[in-house]
Amino acid sequence: MPVISVPQDFNEDDLYVDLEGLVGHPLFLKCEGFNFAGSIKLKAATEMIEAAERDGLLTPDSVLVESSSGNLGVALSMIAASRGYRFVCVTDSRCNLSTRLTMEALGAEVRVITEPDPVTGFLGARIDHVRALCASDERHVWLNQYANPGNGLAHYRRTAPAIARQFPDLDVLFVGAGTTGTLMGCARWFREWHRPVRIVAVDSVGSVTFGNAPARRLIPGLGTSRRPELLDESLIDDVVHVSEPDTIRACHRLAGRGFLFGGSTGTVVSGATEWLARQEGRKPTAVAIAPDLGERYLETVYQNDWVRHLYGEDALDTQVPTATSRAA
Ligand SMILES: Cc1ncc(COP(=O)(O)O)c(C=O)c1O
Repeated sequence: MPVISVPQDFNEDDLYVDLEGLVGHPLFLKCEGFNFAGSIKLKAATEMIEAAERDGLLTPDSVLVESSSGNLGVALSMIAASRGYRFVCVTDSRCNLSTRLTMEALGAEVRVITEPDPVTGFLGARIDHVRALCASDERHVWLNQYANPGNGLAHYRRTAPAIARQFPDLDVLFVGAGTTGTLMGCARWFREWHRPVRIVAVDSVGSVTFGNAPARRLIPGLGTSRRPELLDESLIDDVVHVSEPDTIRACHRLAGRGFLFGGSTGTVVSGATEWLARQEGRKPTAVAIAPDLGERYLETVYQNDWVRHLYGEDALDTQVPTATSRAA
């Protein structure tokens, strides 16, 4: 019986969904949403705060500041409340309402940026705001998830070894790319431990992370409008890009089986399915990482009017031959 006294001490690290029946290939989905922060970002937040405390950057009168599309903000709000820090989260208008309300319920101050920078997008505008806050008051401490080594280290220490323990014969790992903390931490661990695992990055169409042109992206979590400092492409074997309509169709197909996952899980499952479909007869042991669950997306990905208005009727049609349905 797990008994805890601080919320960050609980995290389910060994839950997988067998998706073969849905995607037509062996594929195990590692569920990272079962903790009090509701997402994989709990691990990065814990690692970055503990490192800042060890390094003497964080002191009792510090004010934590971070730019987040939501999930890291929730995790930092939770740990800040548990440890007695003030926290300001700088997000943008794509942040889900329920995510913003969750941060506020945990005592965080949330600043919502409504205008993207013409060149660097929403992310650039958010970072400009964070820099201005830090310049205005020296008590502000910016953990900077895009460049903080603790972000990747969390997954090097926890996520990758947890997967390797359950899948000693793993052939391929699919990881969504946001800050690329999860991707880099896992890729580095498998490389350093000489495991012959192919690392496939899954990104959204319109993200600039792997050098593609920027375009509209409305689902938070994956993709960037500014290349993440943490990214080292030499550790990655392949990259798959997934459109937002394909993401939505994959989410709806999972929900049709009773599994309500977040938007980025739809992206990763769609990308993994497309990649596996190209393997011609081989059946590799494959794991994909599901960063969070679906409650934070009820007003977007799971709201048919929102989907229809932004992407058209086709995005709601799970019979449309996307990667996921073609393979099933
Ligand atoms: C829902 C969701 N999916 C994926 C990611 C990407 O993870 P990472 O930043 O480690 O690349 C995030 C990051 O915030 C997220 O919130």
